[in-house]
Amino acid sequence: MPGTCVIGLQWGDEAKGKIVDLLTQQHEIVVRYSGGANAGHTVVTGGKTYKLSLIPSGIFRSHVQCVIASGVVINPASLLGEIDYLAAENVPVGENLIISDRAHVIFPWHFEEDRLMDVTPSGGEAIGTTMRGIGPCYRDKVGRSLAVRLGDMYRDGFRDRIEAITAEKNRVLAAMEKGSPAKPLDAAEIYTQYAQYAERLQSHVVDTTAYLLDAVDTDRRILFEGAQGSLLDIDHGTFPYVTSSNSSGGGVSIGSGVPGRFVTKVVGILKAYTTRVGGGPCPTEQENETGQHIRDRGNEYGTVTKRPRRCGWFDAVAARYTARLSGVDELAVMLLDVLAALPELKICVAYEIDGKRVTDFPSHIDDLRRAVPVYETVPGWEEEITEVRRFEDLPVKARQYVDRLSELVGRRVGVVSVGPDREQTMFVTS
Ligand code: GDP
Ligand code: IMO
Ligand code: MG
Repeated sequence: MPGTCVIGLQWGDEAKGKIVDLLTQQHEIVVRYSGGANAGHTVVTGGKTYKLSLIPSGIFRSHVQCVIASGVVINPASLLGEIDYLAAENVPVGENLIISDRAHVIFPWHFEEDRLMDVTPSGGEAIGTTMRGIGPCYRDKVGRSLAVRLGDMYRDGFRDRIEAITAEKNRVLAAMEKGSPAKPLDAAEIYTQYAQYAERLQSHVVDTTAYLLDAVDTDRRILFEGAQGSLLDIDHGTFPYVTSSNSSGGGVSIGSGVPGRFVTKVVGILKAYTTRVGGGPCPTEQENETGQHIRDRGNEYGTVTKRPRRCGWFDAVAARYTARLSGVDELAVMLLDVLAALPELKICVAYEIDGKRVTDFPSHIDDLRRAVPVYETVPGWEEEITEVRRFEDLPVKARQYVDRLSELVGRRVGVVSVGPDREQTMFVTS
């Protein structure tokens, strides 16, 4: 069974949504398997721009079955809002969307906890989360006793469970609040609201693990849509400045239930430069005119939170690490057009840490903080490239830049993107 997955190789927002939308043509099923409404995936089709947080980017093709699998954490209000938004845009969401009964549910207390926990007790740099309750919901999933899965909402005892958890959470929140505690959460109100959400979602909720295992047995073509980026992976990313799920390649089977050996192709998505939203080190960040140039040309403002993204040069140390970590077969180099008109470009080829040259990505955040990028400088290109449709027609310096990235990361480049539209894409065959 040809299962393909699309994985971000940086700190998220690599333009995964665009590639998933393109690859969807060759697939029957598109699966979101991790993260939640912290993700913001952009698809441009028919001259319109759509932003999706929870619904798979395959939703725009009528032949596709979209699946939100067990590893995703679901805020029902966001999900229903997205369904309504798509319906208003004449994108039908009905039987073409199924949602796992094992997926965990985000509740109002998770938002409160996200707000109260995102400050480090020692006064260090905050994680800078998206404030979507993601970390607290995953924490409850691992802790088990205060967790609610989508399937629980249709079982006897749901009301009692909400009452018990709300009482416990009110105690926790009161203890966490410094200064004047917020109004306690009202269990009856939460129950009424979530019972309504449950009713509206019911027709979509199934055992998606069983569905996907059947799909594997019957050789259906599945596309897995990664969220976030490999450097935000809870285990292998820049901990603690990460998200709370496995956003690198290893997360595909954990979050979907499909064994890893059925994922036969991994497409790694890279921006032609680096961006990061939120806290944590980003060695190649340019807090100067170059960073601003990239931010302006790339419209680098968060899809979800609208925060300006931190921008910098391409970091080949990080990308080589994540391409290997996520088992990448082929790269898609995105937003190459953004780098036009810069006289020269820099690529980080190594770090210097305490006077030592290092090419392995550091495992500890303190070492990454001290990493000074070692740059290679290459010539830029003057011409705008947004109209170019064949790799051979790119300016020679743009081609050389892509080739150099490929060489440093150690993987072939299969796709180059020069604009948000489906058409602004080149498939590299050599
Ligand atoms: P995702 O989270 O990985 O799906 O990425 P986002 O949607 O958060 O951010 C990518 C942004 O880049 C979106 O606004 C896309 O429309 C846009 N985009 C995608 N590919 C290109 C490209 O090649 N060039 C430019 N200029 N923009 C692009
Ligand atoms: P997509 O799928 C970029 C970042 C947040 C923060 C950290 C933890 O669009 O690429 P969280 O709310 O998950 O606890 O925040 O992770 N982050 C993302 N950054 N793109 C994303 O998703 C992100 N999802 C989370 O900014 O630094
Ligand atoms: Mg995004």
